[in-house]
Amino acid sequence: MLTKVFAPAKVNLTLHVTGQRKDGYHLLDSLVAFADVGDRVSVMAADELSLDVTGPMSDGVPTDARNLVWRAAELFDQPVAITLSKHLPPASGIGGGSSDAAATLLAMSDLTGERTLPEGAAQLGADVRVCLTRQAARMSGIGEIVEPVGPLPQLHAVLANPRVEVPTPAVFKALASKTNAPMPRKLPKWQGTKQLIDWLAAQRNDLEDPAMQVAPVIVDVLAALTTLPDARLARMSGSGATCFALFASREAANGAAAALAELHPDWWVVPATLT
Ligand code: C5P
Repeated sequence: MLTKVFAPAKVNLTLHVTGQRKDGYHLLDSLVAFADVGDRVSVMAADELSLDVTGPMSDGVPTDARNLVWRAAELFDQPVAITLSKHLPPASGIGGGSSDAAATLLAMSDLTGERTLPEGAAQLGADVRVCLTRQAARMSGIGEIVEPVGPLPQLHAVLANPRVEVPTPAVFKALASKTNAPMPRKLPKWQGTKQLIDWLAAQRNDLEDPAMQVAPVIVDVLAALTTLPDARLARMSGSGATCFALFASREAANGAAAALAELHPDWWVVPATLT
């Protein structure tokens, strides 16, 4: 039996860094949404564990225990042949690795009938837990506290990545102020897309500045997104380098993505709907 699971891109609409624990991990307060673009994971019972990586972003993706997909499957007793179809750029702040790991856990649970997650699942990565919910959520602690926020007004976006991998630890290291204000304790009940975008505009991604120090090209990505016709807001996701711009309609996002791809044919540029 073949079990297939979609691994959506995770977008941090906000990412406030509010402190640092003694073990070095940072405390976050982040509003996370999921996109209709992503990777695909399929698993099939086999005699031994194997991983095949295909798709347009498969170059350089490890096919052994360095890959979170492998480590997620290993937590179960059932050996499987895994195929990972890679569409998201790796190490790019949209949770590719975490979302792939979460999709593998879901696929394995489906295949084996095991309903409780195996021990060690949450330790695969800080974003794995939110990626298991696959719905808009407020994420806090170091990523282990996930509170679904109910359906968000639909957001239409352009995602852009300059094909530069950004290592997350380097970005956290370059962060000057580790203690910044969280989002308001109670989040508003957004009535529509415009109200949500206006509210988001008053929030932040505290990792933008340090990520720009690590990868200066992010300055260009944000500038290019900001100047797209009808763009309402441009921000970086996670620790970068992927940035997004938000639009009032999918048509506007589609048009802007086409224009940006023409200006920067070497970048990864896709329109997406976030929920
Ligand atoms: O757990 P994950 O692989 O997503 O994190 C990668 C690195 O990012 C960690 O090793 C840590 O250096 C940093 N990190 C952090 N605080 C978090 C999440 C990640 O400092 N809440």
